Order: sequence, then structure tokens, then C-alpha cells
Amino acid sequence: MEKPELLKLLDYAVATVKKAAAMALEPGMELNITAKSSRNDLVTDVDKEIEQFIANQLLEFSGYPVLGEEGHQVDSFEGRVWLVDPIDGTMNYIETKRDYAISLALCENGVPVLAVVQDVVADKTYTATLGGGAYCNDLPLGAVNSDIDYRQVVLLTDLKEIRALPRLAQVLEESRGHRRYGSAALEMVEVAAGRAGGFIHLWVSPWDIAAATLICRESGCIVSRFDGTSMDVRQKGSVLAAWPTVHSGLLYRLVQAPA
Ligand code: IPD
Ligand code: CA
Ligand code: CA
Repeated sequence: MEKPELLKLLDYAVATVKKAAAMALEPGMELNITAKSSRNDLVTDVDKEIEQFIANQLLEFSGYPVLGEEGHQVDSFEGRVWLVDPIDGTMNYIETKRDYAISLALCENGVPVLAVVQDVVADKTYTATLGGGAYCNDLPLGAVNSDIDYRQVVLLTDLKEIRALPRLAQVLEESRGHRRYGSAALEMVEVAAGRAGGFIHLWVSPWDIAAATLICRESGCIVSRFDGTSMDVRQKGSVLAAWPTVHSGLLYRLVQAPA
């Protein structure tokens, strides 16, 4: 039987992302680091080179437009549009040399239908298609725990969120503890893979989370805005991605519980 069209696109997307990962590991060029919105919001020439490479490949193969963090823009989200973050975790790419990802999603009218998140240094390829399940290195991720309290899991979040959300510090103290890896895409797939119970970030962009949103959903996680409203990956904003009962517990403790 012939492979469904979405799976052919996935094969091509994975092959492209793996070539891009090899470019990140062996760039063969100066990084040439520049700051964007702040001194810790960095971009390198490798980010730009990888985005250009992925955009060229995908456009040629599929004809669908590409939105990328480092300059590729689209007129609209109507129909199919690729979303790419060439290096998610550029600070890690430069400083810690681990925990950075290439994130690629295909959206259909703004809904992610295909996803690839490549953990470049760990050489792990997380994939998903809408309704087709989530995988790591071609092995099914399986469903996350759907009967566990936030107090029994590790949570992923950052100092900025702890400062912004008055009840978060207490919630983290009640949990198994918190971690921060420095790549929103990798942090979300940690939740999908069942290693962390939830991820809270207040300021993500479409290219950070479009792919990981689908991978999370396909492994049974709930992905919403921080306050429980529905996630539209086309818009910047917050994200609360968690195992179902962790999600409801966090929502109650952080947003709904009376002061
Ligand atoms: C950043 C990372 C980081 C998150 C930032 C993102 P970048 O992406 O995902 O973990 O906290 O909000 O901008 O800039 O390295 O692609
Ligand atoms: Ca990013
Ligand atoms: Ca980036």
C-alpha cells in the first residue's frame, strides 16, 4: 500500500532536519553571534544558515510557504504552512553546547498536523502526525500518566514565570521539584516523553511550540494557554503543557483557586 501523503512529508521533514542537525554540529563557519531584543536573546550565522537550508528544501519539495524565526515570513496561515525554529535554545548552542533543538511543524489552517523536534546533541528525533501518535526515534512514546497529582511530578519552568506568578513558587515546592533546560521545544517533549509532568512558560512564539504541541497532544498531554484557554499556535503567548491530571491540578492551584 502506498504511504499516506502526510507520512511522505514527515519522512522528508525528518531527513531535512537531520541534515540541519549535522550542520549545527559541524557548522564549518564562524558563529558570528549577535543580540536581538536583549543581550541574552541571541542569533548566530548558523541559525540563519539552517533556517535558509530548511526553508529551501521544504519549499522545493512541498510548495508550502515557510515561517521561520530568523526572517522567513508568510502572508497568512491559510492552508498548509511550515513553521521552523532553526535552533531552539541558541544560548545553549553557544554556551552549554547541549539541550538545543531544531523544531519543525506543518500547520493546516493554523493547526499542527506534522511535527519534528530534533534534540541535536542527544540525537533524538521526536515526531508526530495528527491522529497518528507520537514517536521518539521511530518508537511510540506511549500515553502519559493520566492519574497523577502535580505533587508527584517534576515540573519545568523558569525564574521569570516564578516571579510573574505569585503561587508558582509554592506549587513547585509541593511538587517533586523543578528543572529548566533552556529550549521550550525540548522542555515540552520531556513532558510528552513522560519524564516531566508539566511545562509552564509565559512568553513563547509559534516556532518554539507548534511542533512540540502536536507531540504533546499525541502522547495524551493537554496543551493550553496558562489560564486554560485554548492554544492557537499562530499567536505568541503562554503555554501550559502537562499530563491531564497535572494540568487540571496546576490550573486550579495557579489560576482558579480562591486567593
Ligand atoms: C528560546 C528558548 C527558551 C525560551 C525562550 C525562547 P531561542 O528560543 O526556547 O527556552 O525560554 O522564550 O525564545 O531564542 O533559543 O530560539
Ligand atoms: Ca525558540
Ligand atoms: Ca531560535
